[in-house]
Amino acid sequence: MLQLFSFLAIFYISLSNCDPQILRLKSIPSPIPNVEEGAKLYLASNDDNGLLKNIQVQTAGGSFTLDQINVNTANGNAKSIVIDGGLVISTSNSNADTSGLTGFLYLTTKKQADDPAFSVYVIKQAQTVSTTQPNSTVVILNTELDNDALVFDQPFKSSYVTNINQSPGSNLFFHWGFPSFNWNQTQITNQFFENPRILEMFDPDLKTINYTRLFFDHIEPLQIGLDYWYFTASEPMSMTMESKYVSDLVYTTTSVNTTGLVVNDFLFQEHVVKFQLDLTRVRTIGTLVSAIPIASQINVIFNQGGGISAQSYATNTIHAQSFTYMQPETLTINATSLLPGFFTCQYFGVTGDLLPPGTSTPSTTVAPTTSVVTTPVSSYNYKRSFLYSYN
Ligand SMILES: *[C@@H]1O[C@H](CO)[C@@H](O)[C@H](O)[C@H]1NC(C)=O
Ligand SMILES: *[C@@H]1O[C@H](CO)[C@@H](O)[C@H](O)[C@H]1NC(C)=O
Ligand SMILES: *[C@@H]1O[C@H](CO)[C@@H](O)[C@H](O)[C@H]1NC(C)=O
Ligand SMILES: *[C@@H]1O[C@H](CO)[C@@H](O)[C@H](O)[C@H]1NC(C)=O
Ligand SMILES: *[C@@H]1O[C@H](CO)[C@@H](O)[C@H](O)[C@H]1NC(C)=O
Repeated sequence: MLQLFSFLAIFYISLSNCDPQILRLKSIPSPIPNVEEGAKLYLASNDDNGLLKNIQVQTAGGSFTLDQINVNTANGNAKSIVIDGGLVISTSNSNADTSGLTGFLYLTTKKQADDPAFSVYVIKQAQTVSTTQPNSTVVILNTELDNDALVFDQPFKSSYVTNINQSPGSNLFFHWGFPSFNWNQTQITNQFFENPRILEMFDPDLKTINYTRLFFDHIEPLQIGLDYWYFTASEPMSMTMESKYVSDLVYTTTSVNTTGLVVNDFLFQEHVVKFQLDLTRVRTIGTLVSAIPIASQINVIFNQGGGISAQSYATNTIHAQSFTYMQPETLTINATSLLPGFFTCQYFGVTGDLLPPGTSTPSTTVAPTTSVVTTPVSSYNYKRSFLYSYN
């Protein structure tokens, strides 16, 4: 895999003095700025414990070496150190050893550290990630993938998420970044995967009729090639996560009714998703896209026979939603550059008479390949971001 810098870093500009932070082991600042008393320190690393042992962490509460927190608690959460009386980190590793480290430290705020509904997992081998509280926030810290895999587009770190066990009345939202000091569960601007998806229904004059809640009881394995991310869950739920990457340039979905995800923050090659169809019934398909292209265009194209429903993203797009009724055999996601920049695309397809035919079937002649920008006004009060071209 090529060693390129991570684009996502640009989004995490510190918001305030007590914002949580990520400290890369290869470049820990000294002194460490803005450390809040009572905050928790976590380590996400699969670096050699022989090197982690040479990194000392001192707070008034005691002195530790990083190998001592490179473990999980009995619950499967990551072990942490509570900051008490400042934080000093020092190393006796050589500069060469330090620059080869891939792991990072994560510092919460005190409020997060004290919140029983806030938890942190470090993902290595397959494990259950679960929440036991309502309205919980779970931070996922990834560890470096095996570099020997020689998969061209493999990200540095990635979570492989399966077995999502969620009750139909609950909400599960994935967010990029880490929760800020004033995070809340209704923040949708960094949301990249949602179960349920809320579809805004329109009448033929494009007036909103109502919102339909589309819950997926079948979800494809989700690969999240980011160093860290978090999810919010309205009710207790569980899933399996593993540090793993499976090349999915051509992927066939495993159910007629399903949702899946493509996340890119690195090298990107065309992805094709092949759908299972039930041609006897109406089908609703759609996407939730955020895209921050770098001198590129990101295309999201549903193909049905010779016809397409296409959207292109050339300027910053946050939380753009669209859906329509068609029976596409495939979804193609491609870009005009091998390094298109950060983007996420949740796709879905559901067969059934979810939508009364005729009430909101879109007109057929809007030009494709126009960039779409939506600014969410508030949760579930979306601007329509829908372009359609079907021949
Ligand atoms: C969870 O959050 C929702 C929405 O903010 C709120 O209505 C509900 O009361 C919360 N539930 C609990 C148990 O705190
Ligand atoms: C949640 O966070 C978003 C983004 O920071 C903000 O716009 C919104 O007002 C917040 N909502 C609540 C209920 O605090
Ligand atoms: C939304 O409006 C349509 C058309 O009026 C109706 O058939 C459907 O039951 C409504 N759905 C909800 C959830 O209210
Ligand atoms: C993207 O895929 C579409 C549909 O297969 C194709 O027409 C288009 O040329 C591709 N664009 C790029 C930039 O690869
Ligand atoms: C897909 O969902 C629809 C609507 O809920 C349902 O009628 C249909 O049986 C489902 N199909 C499969 C294969 O699960």
